[in-house]
Amino acid sequence: MPADRNILRQREQLMNKLSPSILAADFWNLGGEILAVQKAGAHYLHIDVMDGMFVPSISFGMPVISSIRKHTDIFLDVHLMVEKPERYIKEFADCGADLINFHLEAAQDPEAVICLIRSLGKKAGITIKPGTPAEAVTPYLALVDMVLVMTVEPGFGGQKILPSCIEKVRLVRRMIEERGLAVDVEVDGGITRENIRSVTEAGASVLVAGSAVFKGDISENMRELLLRIQ
Ligand code: DX5
Ligand code: ZN
Repeated sequence: MPADRNILRQREQLMNKLSPSILAADFWNLGGEILAVQKAGAHYLHIDVMDGMFVPSISFGMPVISSIRKHTDIFLDVHLMVEKPERYIKEFADCGADLINFHLEAAQDPEAVICLIRSLGKKAGITIKPGTPAEAVTPYLALVDMVLVMTVEPGFGGQKILPSCIEKVRLVRRMIEERGLAVDVEVDGGITRENIRSVTEAGASVLVAGSAVFKGDISENMRELLLRIQ
């Protein structure tokens, strides 16, 4: 790769990224709303898959992801809130996920799940709930592309951020830096214009926002959030 493209690639990796969660979109007009966030500069698209077991609610699964993939090449950041995620990794890879995040609390053998995701050519992320300590991710840090620190209890959009989780973001970022690794830290839940700076300052590099993007004027919401993340 020519030197200038290499520098561009490195800069790209250093940039914080916004990942709108379609859970808060108007499903009647899902395609239109995805195009709107893409046009407004979304880096990723966050896709919440809920199974009614790991979390109380049920959202959507592979057919929705396949349809999205057919119409856009935006990076699909898939968040599996699913018991025994190992059962479904292949299906999610096949339907077009670019990155697959699974919950550490839900997997029997997290290392095997990470290896499976990577063997399918996808990026791998591990996710921890608010009650799971930062140290739980230590054995996997060198194996993953991302750690997703939930900033609300997973299961529903539109909740308030749990301030104690911001401290956990700081701890995870410190653990990554101490090991000299290039791992993203994603935050998810209750992110707003008002608090987004506090999470990037704590070390988050991928910011999920559902309600703060899709409720109200999407392009204005996107502009205000993007302004605050670099
Ligand atoms: C919650 C989901 C989140 C949710 C975020 O379980 O993982 O991605 O959609 O929604 P907001 O930004 O509205 O809290
Ligand atoms: Zn999510």
